Amino acid sequence: MLEKTTAVILAAGQGTRMKSSLPKVLHAIAGRPLLHYPVRAALEAGCGEVVVVVGHGRDRVESYLSAGFDANRVKTAVQKEQRGTGDAARAGLETVRGDAERILIFCGDTPLLTADDVAAVAKKLDEDPNAAIAMATCTTDDPFGYGRIIRDAGGQIVAIREQRDLKSDAERAIKEWNPAIYCADRRFLEEAIASLQPNNAQGEYYLTDIVAFAVKQGRRVVGVPSRADVMDGVNDRAQLAALDRAMCERIVKRHRVAGVTIRDGARIEDSVEIGQDAVIESFAVLRGRTKVGAGAIVDVGCVLTNADVGEGVALKPYSVVTDSVVRARAQVGPFSHLRPESDVGEEAHVGNFVELKKTRLDKGAKANHLAYLGDGFVGEGANVGAGTIFCNYDGFSKHVTRIGKGAFIGSDSQLVAPVTIGDGAYVGTGTTVTKDVPADALAIGRAKQENKEGYASRLKARLKAQKEAAQKK
Ligand code: UD1
Ligand code: CA
Repeated sequence: MLEKTTAVILAAGQGTRMKSSLPKVLHAIAGRPLLHYPVRAALEAGCGEVVVVVGHGRDRVESYLSAGFDANRVKTAVQKEQRGTGDAARAGLETVRGDAERILIFCGDTPLLTADDVAAVAKKLDEDPNAAIAMATCTTDDPFGYGRIIRDAGGQIVAIREQRDLKSDAERAIKEWNPAIYCADRRFLEEAIASLQPNNAQGEYYLTDIVAFAVKQGRRVVGVPSRADVMDGVNDRAQLAALDRAMCERIVKRHRVAGVTIRDGARIEDSVEIGQDAVIESFAVLRGRTKVGAGAIVDVGCVLTNADVGEGVALKPYSVVTDSVVRARAQVGPFSHLRPESDVGEEAHVGNFVELKKTRLDKGAKANHLAYLGDGFVGEGANVGAGTIFCNYDGFSKHVTRIGKGAFIGSDSQLVAPVTIGDGAYVGTGTTVTKDVPADALAIGRAKQENKEGYASRLKARLKAQKEAAQKK
């Protein structure tokens, strides 16, 4: 329906109060840059095109947008100097494609607004043939800082006045304010913006002055009462934290509605997917492109970053999984560390204090206690004993360890890579394996044990006497 509507999103401002080298709109909430959300809202509302007005830090903003969105629909326009919202809108209009009939304008730093919030403003313009502008309005007890909506005796909107330009106590008492979502026909908007003058307290081109322009032309400006709680912008780190919290709460709600159990204190970023009947316990953190399969349990304190967790997996407390796969019904943790490019097979077990890096465990393989498995392959059903180390690094290069199907690696073994242990082979406890072990062979390499009968009490007596002699001196 909004195919011929272009959304112009204002995002050129510096965001001085963030005190940051990062452009304000690239600061993240719930794992995505602030700007992601308004762009997505415009696309979800069905806008045929989105033009983001960039300025401060524009290279970084542009590269984020081109990596994250379809360049045919999401474009950027440059505002060279930040001379106000009206000037920003002018810069945006210059990039809008020729056949766009209608323009929706809103800000890049209000991440909580949704497709419905912006679509409602566009719809209002459609409904009223006399209206030149439709705009959202909010009413709250303390609108300090926002532009106020000035209405005439008949209740028609006639102007927007910025906080610093308020003229009287009566104006200061107005509780209706401008959340900055506007929709207008392109032709009208071009004319209105060309008329703007920087005659205000800040010496800026105010986009809000298009309202008074419309009224002067004998046109109507219609208000759309909107939800105030989603219109908050981010200006400083405290607001960033507040909106991060609000967005995370929204995400948790969405998963709960879809049939996921999420305990208090879990943090789930926007891009995460979770299957039905999964349980996410307190203080678990799920980031990036993490996926959790149906019925999986992510227990207390787990940290998952771009993790692909299969159905029915149990991730026990305090496990860390990064850029790795854990397949159906596997068990991991407590206190396991799966570093990038690890792949834990179906029904495999990785236990406490086991670290994996770039290592694949096939179905049913086990490494249950205290091990480092780096650059390795562990065959189906193989068992890697406690304390086993894949010695993968010689100080210069990384080498691969391969363990065949059903092999058994005794505790406290070192496998010095590159090395291959054949299917069904058996490595005796405490062996340092430096040569390949054929299938079905036993490898054992440790000092032979000797037992001296009755020697323990003689040894103890001798040591005791030595100690007493030393004390007498
Ligand atoms: C603006 C409105 C105010 C409204 C408020 C809602 C004006 C004059 N005032 O005020 O009525 O209540 O938003 O939050 O429009 N920007 C640019 N280029 C510029 C200046 C700003 O791209 O030269 C962008 C900013 O990056 C930001 C948005 O426009 O995303 C709003 O700018 P900001 O300075 O925050 O406007 P406010 O003073 O808050
Ligand atoms: Ca603002």
